[in-house]
Amino acid sequence: MAKDGAAATVSDDALFTMRWTRAERDLMTPLTRLYGKAMKPATIQKRVRALLAEKWAERPKDLRALDLARDVSPDWYLRQDMAGYVFYVDRFAGDMKAVADRIPYLQSLGIRYAHFMPCLKPRPGDSDGGYAVMDYGKIDPRLGSMADFKRVAKKMRKAGISPCIDMVLNHTAREHDWAVRARKGDAFRQQFYRLYDDETIPLQYEETLLEVFPDQAPGNFTWDDDLGKWVWTTFNSFQWDLNWENPEVFLAILGIILDLANAGAEVLRLDAVAFMWKRLGTVCQNEPEVHDILQAINQAASVAAPAVIFKAEAIVGPHQLVPYLGAGRHTGKVSNLAYHNSLMVQYWSALATGRADLMTHVLRTHFPERFTNAQWATYIRCHDDIGWAITEDDAEAVGVTGPGHRKFLSDFYAGRFPGSFARGADFQVNERTGDARTNGTTAALTGLQAAETPEDIDLAVRRILLGHALIAGFGGMPLIYMGDEIGLPNDESFRDDPDRAGDGRWMQRPTMDWQTAEAAPEADTPAGRIWRGTRHILRVRAEIDALRGDVPASVLGTGHDKLLVVRRPGTEGTLTGLYNFTPQDQQIEAQRVCIDHAAMPMDMLTGALPAREADRIVVPPYGAVWLHEELR
Ligand code: GLC
Ligand code: GLC
Repeated sequence: MAKDGAAATVSDDALFTMRWTRAERDLMTPLTRLYGKAMKPATIQKRVRALLAEKWAERPKDLRALDLARDVSPDWYLRQDMAGYVFYVDRFAGDMKAVADRIPYLQSLGIRYAHFMPCLKPRPGDSDGGYAVMDYGKIDPRLGSMADFKRVAKKMRKAGISPCIDMVLNHTAREHDWAVRARKGDAFRQQFYRLYDDETIPLQYEETLLEVFPDQAPGNFTWDDDLGKWVWTTFNSFQWDLNWENPEVFLAILGIILDLANAGAEVLRLDAVAFMWKRLGTVCQNEPEVHDILQAINQAASVAAPAVIFKAEAIVGPHQLVPYLGAGRHTGKVSNLAYHNSLMVQYWSALATGRADLMTHVLRTHFPERFTNAQWATYIRCHDDIGWAITEDDAEAVGVTGPGHRKFLSDFYAGRFPGSFARGADFQVNERTGDARTNGTTAALTGLQAAETPEDIDLAVRRILLGHALIAGFGGMPLIYMGDEIGLPNDESFRDDPDRAGDGRWMQRPTMDWQTAEAAPEADTPAGRIWRGTRHILRVRAEIDALRGDVPASVLGTGHDKLLVVRRPGTEGTLTGLYNFTPQDQQIEAQRVCIDHAAMPMDMLTGALPAREADRIVVPPYGAVWLHEELR
C-alpha cells in the first residue's frame, strides 16, 4: 500500500503495453529487414502484435507472476547455482508423469534446470530421436499428454527447477500437417518449405553445401513422389527444411514457441539454428539473417512470455559460434544460452594428448571474456556425436596440422590409437578427407568402460570429475548429461531396433540405471565416487559468486602446456581455476597464475590449502583446483 492509500497495482494489459513498448524497436528492426519485401512492415507489426496479445491473454496466472519476477531479476539464469540435467523422458523415468517422481533425485544432485529431450509428437518409426516433429501441440503419446507436461513443469517450478524443451524450428517431419497439405497441392503450405520442380537449383546449392549425415542421408535434397518436387532436407530425408524467408513461417513458429512457454517451458532449446537461412554460393550455415530471426524470437517472447529464455544449438566453429550469444548490433538481444562446443571438443582433445596448449590457444583467441544478457551452456557430452571442429590455423599454432590432429582424435576415441583408453566409435566417416566424428558415452570415452585395474578405474573417474569441474568452473551453466553422474557405459542395444540401428548416436543414449543411481550417494564404487564428486562440485560452485555468468573469464597464457588456468574476478572474490589434463602431478609457480604465494588462498574444492612445492602450486593427476582469493 502506498502512503496515499492507493494500491501500486498495474493491470496485465498495461504490463503488456509496457513490454511491447520496451521491445518494439528490437523486434521490428530485424523483422523489417527479413520480411519487409514479402509483407508490408505495418502488416507484420499488426500481425505480430495481435499474436503476442493473443498468447499473453492465454498465459496462465502463475506464469505471469513468474514473468514479473524475472522482469525484476533478468539475471536469474546467470546465477552460480544454476546447473542443468539433460534426459530422455522414457529413458530417465518411463513416461512424462513419472518424471515428477524424479524431482527429488535432481534436487539432491544440485540441479536447477531440466532439459526434456525431444518429447513432442514425432513421426512414426525413425524420427531422428524425436527431432522430426509431426505435431508441436502434442506430447509424444507414448510418453503422455500436454496436460502431463504442464503438471510436471509446475511441480518442477515449485521445486526451483526450470524446465527446458526442444523447439525444432529448422524443419518439420514429412508427416506434419503443413507438409501433408503441401503434398496435396496446397499452395500456401508449399511455401512453408523449400521445394523445387527440377534439380537445377538444388544442384547449384549442392556445389557449396556440406552434408550432415553423409552415410544415412547423403545430399541435402530429397525427391518426393507425391509432391513431384525436390524438397530441401538438410538432415534426414523425412526432415523437411522450413522456408524462413516466408513471414508466415515466422508467425507460425512464434505461435508454437509461445504455446510451449504457456505450457510451462522456461527455456527453449532452438535446434539446428545455424541452418535456418539459405544463400546460394555458401554452406548455408550461420548466415546473418539467422541472428535477425533469433533476435526477433527473443524480443517477441520478452513481450508475451518474458520469463522464458532461449538456448541456441549451433554446433559450429569458434568464429561462427560467438554471434549466437550476441555480437555487433545483436549484442544482448539474441539467445541467452548457446552450447560451448569448442570447450567440449577441447576437453576431449586435451585428455587425449595430455596437453592444454591447444585448448588455451583456442579459448584465448576466439572468445570474448563475457557476454551481455547471455552465457555459455557448458557440457562435456550430449546425445549427439562429437565433431572434431579444430581449424587448420589453431592446430598449426601449436605445431600440429588440422587433418592430422582430427584424425588422431577420431582414432584415439574409437580406441584404434595404440594405448588409447577410449571405447567410442566412428560416426559419418568422410572417405575423401578421412575426417570422422565420434560416438560414445563419457564413461566409454574417458576409459571407465575399459578399465580393468583399480588404477585404471581411478584415472577414469578422475577424468570424468575433471570434466565436471571444468564445465562447472569455466563459466556458464553446466549441463550434466543423463548417466554421466554415475558413469553409464555405451548402450549397444540400439543395433537390434530397426528404427535406431542406422544411427550410431544411440550408443550414448542409454536407459538410466536407477539401481546404481539410488545406491550412488553411499556406494563405494566408481559410480558412487562420480556421483558424490559431481554433487560436491555443484554444491561448491553454488557458493562462489565469481562463478556467476556475468563475471568475465580470462584464460591465462601461462606458458604451461599441460594446465588450463581460468581467472574469474567476482565482486566478492577472484576464482582461479587450474585444470590438469595429465595422469601426473603438474606444478606451476604461484606468481605465473597471479597468486601471491605468501597469502596462498584456499582451494574451494578440497576446503584446504593446495599442495605446494617451494613457490609452486601442485595440481594432482587429472585434478581441478579452485583457488579463491576473498576481497577484504
Ligand atoms: C540437432 C540435434 C540432433 C538432430 C539435429 C536435426 O542438432 O541435436 O540430434 O539430429 O538437430 O534435428
Ligand atoms: C552436426 C550439426 C548439428 C547436428 C549434428 C548431428 O554437428 O551441426 O546441428 O545436430 O551434426 O549429429
